[in-house]
Amino acid sequence: MENQQKKYKIERYDLSKDNSLRPWSAADEYLLQTFQELENKPTHLGIYNDRFGFLACHLHSFTPTIVLTHKSQEKAIHANLAANQLSLVNFADPLSSFDNPLDFALVKIPKSLGLFEFFLEQIANQSTDDVTVVCAFMTRHFSPRLLEIAQEYFEVAEQSKALKKARLLILKQKKKTVKKGLMHSLTYNEQEYKQYPGVFSSEHIDYATQFLLEHIETKETDQKVLDLGAGNGVIGNEIRKKLPNAEIHLMDDAHLAVASAKLNIQGDQVHHHLDNDLSIFDENTFDLIVTNPPFHFEYEINIQVPLALFRECFRRLKKGGSLQVVGNTHLNYKTHLQRIFPSVQVVAEDKKFVVYQCVK
Ligand SMILES: C[S@@+](CC[C@H](N)C(=O)[O-])C[C@H]1O[C@@H](n2cnc3c(N)ncnc32)[C@H](O)[C@@H]1O
Repeated sequence: MENQQKKYKIERYDLSKDNSLRPWSAADEYLLQTFQELENKPTHLGIYNDRFGFLACHLHSFTPTIVLTHKSQEKAIHANLAANQLSLVNFADPLSSFDNPLDFALVKIPKSLGLFEFFLEQIANQSTDDVTVVCAFMTRHFSPRLLEIAQEYFEVAEQSKALKKARLLILKQKKKTVKKGLMHSLTYNEQEYKQYPGVFSSEHIDYATQFLLEHIETKETDQKVLDLGAGNGVIGNEIRKKLPNAEIHLMDDAHLAVASAKLNIQGDQVHHHLDNDLSIFDENTFDLIVTNPPFHFEYEINIQVPLALFRECFRRLKKGGSLQVVGNTHLNYKTHLQRIFPSVQVVAEDKKFVVYQCVK
């Protein structure tokens, strides 16, 4: 087993340089071990939430369907497969129809239980009657809601013993399922925003975002605008109201965020992008970039991701263009932004949030 797990070299491919962060966890190892111990291997295996490709690499010979939630995940899995001279995986996303119904699924349970439910709904609706779903989580992340969700879709939901502080939830005998339409609906500025489960801030528009929206400064000359980390698209949409003739680009790393933003903002001048960096844009492209930037991913907090994005923003802004960014006061983005931009002003500040305007 130990040898099996060290068979491939798996690296993190993300914007972070933090060596203390690992490319897989004991929960991923538990999933792999369980699969490797199966006497009868399934025909159509689905793998969910395999962040950097640990499972994709080790189980590539079963040509699994890897359900991708993020562009960064897709890039990392491609890179790890290539680095290990592997190929042969199928990619899908949480909204895909599968070519073949799954008869087995491995799920690393995501932090968002709404997204977990969305995964189970996709599996339950596109699997054989005897499908088995093995879900893994770190014991410290257990919540009784996990079991409740699982039992909505499966008659049998058994927990395993803990192994290296990870635990499994094994689901069998799927119930007759219907599509529940697991969408959230939020209202801001008298407009409804729809979003899929797992997309940032599902109960209400995030308070930091609201603070940013109250203080955004636009100029008539802002003709090319980027909403970076757009989530459901609320920032891009509010900017469009101020700048109806501008070309608005919205980018997010998460599939379901981009799919949500597409529901909320459309038009000839609106462009949606699924990506985790700005490399698709030329240097000196934008007049204005606005963002409530990401600083955590699942359970990890990582300020290096927004800092890497700020550096990219600088290069993609035109001379005189501005980055307007909101942050929690304790993150102290100002020190970092001043190393990148010649001019950084505090536009607004309260006890919790600060909005900065950074001019190139
Ligand atoms: C704090 S949320 C803001 C979402 C939305 N703009 C709002 O205000 O409600 C940050 C967003 O950035 C996205 N994200 C994370 N890493 C990213 C990256 N490297 N590139 C682009 N988007 C990213 C997340 O999926 C999330 O939707």
